[in-house]
Amino acid sequence: MSHLSAATRHRVAFTLNGRPVSLEAEPRLLASDALRHGLGATGTHVGCEHGVCGACTIQIDGVPARACLTLAVQLEGRKVRTVEGLGPAADRLSVLQASFRRHHALQCGFCTAGILVSLDAFLHEQPHPSEEELRIVVGGHLCRCTGYTPIIRATLEAAEQLRSDPSLPDSSHV
Ligand code: FES
Ligand code: FES
Repeated sequence: MSHLSAATRHRVAFTLNGRPVSLEAEPRLLASDALRHGLGATGTHVGCEHGVCGACTIQIDGVPARACLTLAVQLEGRKVRTVEGLGPAADRLSVLQASFRRHHALQCGFCTAGILVSLDAFLHEQPHPSEEELRIVVGGHLCRCTGYTPIIRATLEAAEQLRSDPSLPDSSHV
């Protein structure tokens, strides 16, 4: 077979926001492109495509990962969560998302999906975050609009709300 022939495609099956999905993927296909173009999950944004800006952050088995540095074939059998899966229902915001809205923690919104996905994972790991810890988390994301301060405020308030009322419709890991 010529090296110019079409690359072998692999069927990749995984769970996306609690729903089983699958697609055909060339080995070089990025997870970010698979999600956006293969599955229509365009909430995951793509900025630098070099692992720097954090816009493409998704959760893989609950752990934040850069979708632009992940191959689609690496998603096989995993539980993937994107910004579309953070709320308890398609038309409801998570506690963190609602707090972002109240505190004007986004402007253009390009960075927001990735930041929410990272902070959501962090709040599950650390329900009592300090401001310093949150600054370290958002340090992995480039935001050109907000100056980060409202993001920190919104997250501190969301963490407090979640601690005070475990029955709130928070996003739970799928
Ligand atoms: S698009 Fe992935 S880190 Fe920037
Ligand atoms: S809200 Fe515009 S880049 Fe963050």
